[in-house]
Amino acid sequence: AQISEANFVKSSVRTEDCPSDGLPEFALVGRSNVGKSSLLNSLVRRKKLAHTSKKPGKTQCINHFRINDSWYLVDLPGYGYASAPRELRTDWNKFTKDYFLNRSTLVSVFLLIDASVPAKQIDLDYASWLGQNQIPMTIIFTKCDKRKKKKKDGKRAEENMSDFQELIGGFFHTTPPWIMTSSVTHQGRDEILLHIAQLRNY
Ligand code: GTP
Ligand code: MG
Repeated sequence: AQISEANFVKSSVRTEDCPSDGLPEFALVGRSNVGKSSLLNSLVRRKKLAHTSKKPGKTQCINHFRINDSWYLVDLPGYGYASAPRELRTDWNKFTKDYFLNRSTLVSVFLLIDASVPAKQIDLDYASWLGQNQIPMTIIFTKCDKRKKKKKDGKRAEENMSDFQELIGGFFHTTPPWIMTSSVTHQGRDEILLHIAQLRNY
């Protein structure tokens, strides 16, 4: 299930401009700064294939990366706070949601949730929207390497994760699968690749 080849293919802002070769794809979505582009780099074992930044709002398009010439990883703009104008963020939200609803080759959405902080309302709203629209989803908890820093009022990653799972329980007929990850330690990398391999064989 390892990745031997990863190539950036194109950036699109409309679903109809995305690659049309029919290969199956998996898309990374989550709050701005949650670690979508970093996770992509961790999965493909390249430091800078997808552009990352400390400032939220780095990824602004639907970015297709072809993997092993047989499937795509798709990096998306984040939702929530970003250092970009509101109108631009509204556009991102519109075209990403259009992409989820209309991209027929989309196998599963990977919803990234920062495990180092309690889930935000906007994460719950997003999970709820995906559930309502019956979009197949996997929950990916990110930044699990940060969990040992327990702040006075902060919860541990395990608590943040079980709180989130409980809160979204009612949004789905069956609880979505979930994977713990870190792009620093590469925790979860093999598990995600195995998960993708299993989904592709259905
Ligand atoms: P946007 O494109 O702006 O929506 O953000 P993104 O979700 O693609 O986040 P990105 O990968 O650019 O990472 C944001 C910041 O979080 C960067 O400073 C990363 O180094 C950091 N980061 C990402 N993943 C991890 C992780 O697993 N652990 C830690 N400690 N930091 C991480
Ligand atoms: Mg990004």
